[in-house]
Amino acid sequence: MKLHMIDVSVIGCGNMGSALIKGLSRVDGYTVTAYDVAPEALEAIEAHCERTTTDIEDVHDSAVVVLAVKPEIVPLVLEELDLDTDRTLVTFAAGVSTDVVAPQTDATVVRVMPNLAAETRNMAAAVSWDEPDENVARMLSDLGEYVEIDEDLMDVATALNGSSPAFVFYLLGALQKRAVDEGLDEDDAEILAAQTFKGAAETVLQSEKEIDELIDAVCSPNGTTIEGMNVLWDSDVEDVVGDALSAARRRSAELAEEAEKDAER
Ligand SMILES: NC(=O)c1ccc[n+]([C@@H]2O[C@H](COP(=O)([O-])OP(=O)(O)OC[C@H]3O[C@@H](n4cnc5c(N)ncnc54)[C@H](OP(=O)(O)O)[C@@H]3O)[C@@H](O)[C@H]2O)c1
Repeated sequence: MKLHMIDVSVIGCGNMGSALIKGLSRVDGYTVTAYDVAPEALEAIEAHCERTTTDIEDVHDSAVVVLAVKPEIVPLVLEELDLDTDRTLVTFAAGVSTDVVAPQTDATVVRVMPNLAAETRNMAAAVSWDEPDENVARMLSDLGEYVEIDEDLMDVATALNGSSPAFVFYLLGALQKRAVDEGLDEDDAEILAAQTFKGAAETVLQSEKEIDELIDAVCSPNGTTIEGMNVLWDSDVEDVVGDALSAARRRSAELAEEAEKDAER
């Protein structure tokens, strides 16, 4: 069966918007318009989309319009945006709730917490919507994995899939650095560490097993892995990593509160 083309406009082509556009350019089935106020942002992305524009009118006919500007810019864009009821407005803005956006548009509002791995089609996304939107579901599937959540859990999702790529880079970097200290070439260590994270993540996604069972499967008695795992189990690493997630979740909630107060003014 031939897929229908989905007309997508992306408002704001910075880090997240351009990752989305590059990801969509790697898969058939999308016609993408990139809108930004900054011509240099559009120049950087023009090879990856059908059209770039600084005229907001050009986004009004798209089936899906993605809002990928900083949260504080959202109210400014909503003032100019005039979408009818046939459109879906997908907001990526951290801390900006559907209750703030929906009264300012006729479009159906869908809130998504994406991450930058959209660019390589390995995005983890959390979506909250009143009803599943076919176009948005296809887009999120084409870009990686997504889960549907209640909107009041968006702050946890923001911490987990929005922020934690940075935490993973940190952990990956820690392993790489020590491998270099122990003699491995820096580039080789980067490849081995990164591919190991990728492989482990793929195993978790594809396996029915619990995380503890997967750990057990790598740990043979008296082998090498159990020596390392004992160091981790005897430490407070699990709590510290959890605290990083909680700190990000708290900050997300604070930002959401600020956005709500701004919207009431
Ligand atoms: N980055 C991430 O990892 C990530 C993850 C999850 C969610 N998000 C969400 O995605 C959104 C964008 O984040 P980002 O990191 O991509 O920000 P960013 O890099 O600052 O990109 C925003 C882009 O929007 C442009 N812009 C500013 N005002 C505009 C307007 N009125 N109309 C259209 N474009 C405008 C900016 O131009 P100037 O630079 O000239 O201002 C910039 O090119 C945020 O709401 C964030 O919460 C980001």
